[in-house]
Amino acid sequence: MAAPLISPSILSADFARLGEDVRAIDAAGADWIHIDVMDGHFVPNLTIGPGVVKALRPHSAKPFDVHLMIAPVDSYLEAFAAAGADIITVHPEAGPHVHRTVQAIRGLGKKAGIALNPATPAKTLDYLIDEIDLVLVMSVNPGFGGQSFIASQLRKIEAVRKMIDKAGRSIHLEVDGGIDVGTARQCTEAGADVLVAGTASFRGGPDQYAANITALKGID
Ligand code: DX5
Ligand code: ZN
Repeated sequence: MAAPLISPSILSADFARLGEDVRAIDAAGADWIHIDVMDGHFVPNLTIGPGVVKALRPHSAKPFDVHLMIAPVDSYLEAFAAAGADIITVHPEAGPHVHRTVQAIRGLGKKAGIALNPATPAKTLDYLIDEIDLVLVMSVNPGFGGQSFIASQLRKIEAVRKMIDKAGRSIHLEVDGGIDVGTARQCTEAGADVLVAGTASFRGGPDQYAANITALKGID
């Protein structure tokens, strides 16, 4: 089993010194940088907009994995693409025509991801799988860091892994929410290849970041 890529969620970083924290987590071995964008409407929390993504861009050359929890989302795609997003992930509930949204992301030259909330079934992907670059299985209800992993999502990860293998293209299977060393292993065994981790990446401050990421990857 290959070690998963780790995408630390900056939701758990120090917002007062975000640039330095992104540099530190990058140097500690983060593969991607996960950026959670929340609108206080689609999810009950507010975070950051494209201006912050743009300001962070010079601080890391790693892929910016931008998770948009915004509805309606379409009118924001261009701004996040221009700000430096590499992967843009949207929820199918965040607009009336998710297929068109995916086409718009790809039209901007970015990788397109679909996020599945805990109650959203894998079959939502049936007519999208050939158009996307990433599936994000939410293992918590989106809105906040530090929540507990919802174990029923392991079955969904297994189902999505089968769909991806059948599609026969390179599509990342990422899991987001409640990832720690134990759940990281369960997700990887179920077929995930990218893990988002906020709390578990930034725990203990910059001196701990490298050890945190190494542990999440399951490397002894
Ligand atoms: C939740 C976000 C997650 C969250 C993960 O809405 O999408 O990325 O920050 O945080 P942890 O790893 O602390 O569960
Ligand atoms: Zn996220």
